[in-house]
Amino acid sequence: QLNEMESMFVVSEYAKSYFHDTLLNVEEGKAIGLTYFKERGFTGDTIKRFDLGYSPDSWDTFTNEALAKGYKLEFLEKTGLTIVKDDKKFDRFKGRVMFPIQSMSGRVLGFGGRILTNDKKAAKYLNSPESEIYHKSKVLYGIFHAKQEIAKKDNCFLVEGYTDVIQMHQAGITNVVASSGTALTTDQIRLVNRLTKNITMLFDGDAAGLRASIRGVDLILETGMNVRICALPDGEDPDSFARKNSLDFLERYFEENSKDFISFKASLLMQDAKNDPIKKADLIRDMVVSISKIPDTIKQEVYVQECSRIMDISEDVLFNTLAQIGKKEV
Ligand code: CTP
Ligand code: MN
Ligand code: MN
Ligand code: MN
Ligand code: MN
Repeated sequence: QLNEMESMFVVSEYAKSYFHDTLLNVEEGKAIGLTYFKERGFTGDTIKRFDLGYSPDSWDTFTNEALAKGYKLEFLEKTGLTIVKDDKKFDRFKGRVMFPIQSMSGRVLGFGGRILTNDKKAAKYLNSPESEIYHKSKVLYGIFHAKQEIAKKDNCFLVEGYTDVIQMHQAGITNVVASSGTALTTDQIRLVNRLTKNITMLFDGDAAGLRASIRGVDLILETGMNVRICALPDGEDPDSFARKNSLDFLERYFEENSKDFISFKASLLMQDAKNDPIKKADLIRDMVVSISKIPDTIKQEVYVQECSRIMDISEDVLFNTLAQIGKKEV
């Protein structure tokens, strides 16, 4: 078992180098992949730091190259780099730009591959399949490059995607990791919890991003961590936003617009339920549910006070609701 995992790591490391080398040194990779990354504003340094790559647009070029180098088909298949079907071999990531996904200690666990066309029928990102070495729900993209700065800043920015991490990094904000499009999991939060108790969620300024951040909040609170949420202007994601603005501006923006979860939920109310008592009641209950997730009772009390003040409702009522929720869950 251990040997098998080791062989999977070895072939993944090779694939990372192969894709990276193809991007930087092979005509097709330069013309298509490198041009794409440059158009997105990634510098050469950034491309090297994140070991970005390109997988040739042919059925089996990568697989054949790996086999010729002595890597075994068994491990190419187990890592999902090669798909074997009716005795034929196919490169999973054919024609995509490649984002290696690394563990906290820098080992290559898997890949995300982005399509270059605007073909709406094909998935924009294709990821490595679940395997012995790659568990999507347990990895955070960027953690290897972010860990030191997360500890130093005692805060971790959580974003949605690969390019968000990379563009923030390039802008000079390096304490950033991405959940990579999956709903945030407890395992992912625990990874951050080893480095800091503070998370700032920075989600896409669209409806999907908003939903994702609301779902993530309770999970982070349950882990006993502090969570703040920073909304981005409509239609921006951290990638586009970081690309447009200076480091000074970004730091100031994140500082001034990060809200604790109570204020964040309250601001949602101001947007769409201001004059609707039923919606307001629902939202208050929702806030109390979030508060009930906090393991520390002193913190709970502080948030009850905060909620009471912002929502203009008595602390007694909130504490009663909190007690009811507590009873329902046991
Ligand atoms: N994702 C995925 N599969 C998809 C779409 C998205 O795995 N079909 C993941 C990727 O990790 C992606 C993240 O979800 O980075 C966020 O998705 P999205 O916001 O749609 O993509 P961006 O990261 O903004 O990518 P880009 O800027 O390249 O369009
Ligand atoms: Mn590197
Ligand atoms: Mn999105
Ligand atoms: Mn996005
Ligand atoms: Mn984007």
